[in-house]
Amino acid sequence: MLKVANLCKSFGSLVVTDDVSLHLEKGERRVVLGPNGAGKTTLFNLLAGEIAPSSGDVFIDGKSITSLPVEARAHIGLSRSYQKNNLFEGLTIGENLSLAAAVAMGLSGSLLRDTHNDPELRKVVTDVAAQVGLKDMLEMQVANVSYGNRRQLEVGLALANGPKVLLMDEPTSGVGPSMISAFHGLLKTLPRELTVLIIEHDMDLAFDVADSITVLNYGKVVFEGTPDETRASSLVSEIYLGDWDDDA
Ligand SMILES: Nc1ncnc2c1ncn2[C@@H]1O[C@H](COP(=O)(O)OP(=O)(O)O)[C@@H](O)[C@H]1O
Ligand SMILES: [Mg+2]
Repeated sequence: MLKVANLCKSFGSLVVTDDVSLHLEKGERRVVLGPNGAGKTTLFNLLAGEIAPSSGDVFIDGKSITSLPVEARAHIGLSRSYQKNNLFEGLTIGENLSLAAAVAMGLSGSLLRDTHNDPELRKVVTDVAAQVGLKDMLEMQVANVSYGNRRQLEVGLALANGPKVLLMDEPTSGVGPSMISAFHGLLKTLPRELTVLIIEHDMDLAFDVADSITVLNYGKVVFEGTPDETRASSLVSEIYLGDWDDDA
């Protein structure tokens, strides 16, 4: 479903993505681990088309998307949620979802109040809101909701696109334990055929939701395996200085 072939990216003399190759099957849940500065977010920026690689290719369903801009990739079914909030504060949760769904459905020229009357769009909004646990909060203005709810909405915006491949950059960063467990539930209810690549720093969550794990260090893939293989890897625990079970 998603194939990355020998992807490289340098900023000046700094090599941030170093010959990364990945292959995700349809429906696969892959977690990307790696220390701060390992190049995880840069890899996502390359996949989403926000920056261009120095070399290498990205394929979806066997088709190269390497030269396509962000919107065209989104149209093909590649969707991402951001590490930082990317929301319209003055609008409600429902309106934010409506806009994302409207853009995905090619209704972006219409006024927000018109899109409210589109039954197909309303259905996408209610379905996605239910999926991310926000169905009772559609009328709330984003400026007034919690940080955790914003993170849920971020995932909702990415889902409103009806993606085949979902990229999530640290969806639980900065949220408390109850919200981490809510995300856990959310990830488990995503459609099984959806391919998910997720950067996650919460190890329990990562090990539990992943079918497979890729570890990046200094821009390189240094390990790939199942959650069990990853737990058992001395290389991986060395990279994390053996500290990932400390908070268990
Ligand atoms: N636009 C940029 N220009 C220069 N250096 C960058 C840029 N974006 C990221 N970097 C550098 O690339 C490295 C990897 O960053 P990043 O991909 O954000 O890592 P991670 O998400 O794994 O923490 C860091 O050293 C960062 O400073
Ligand atoms: Mg990052």
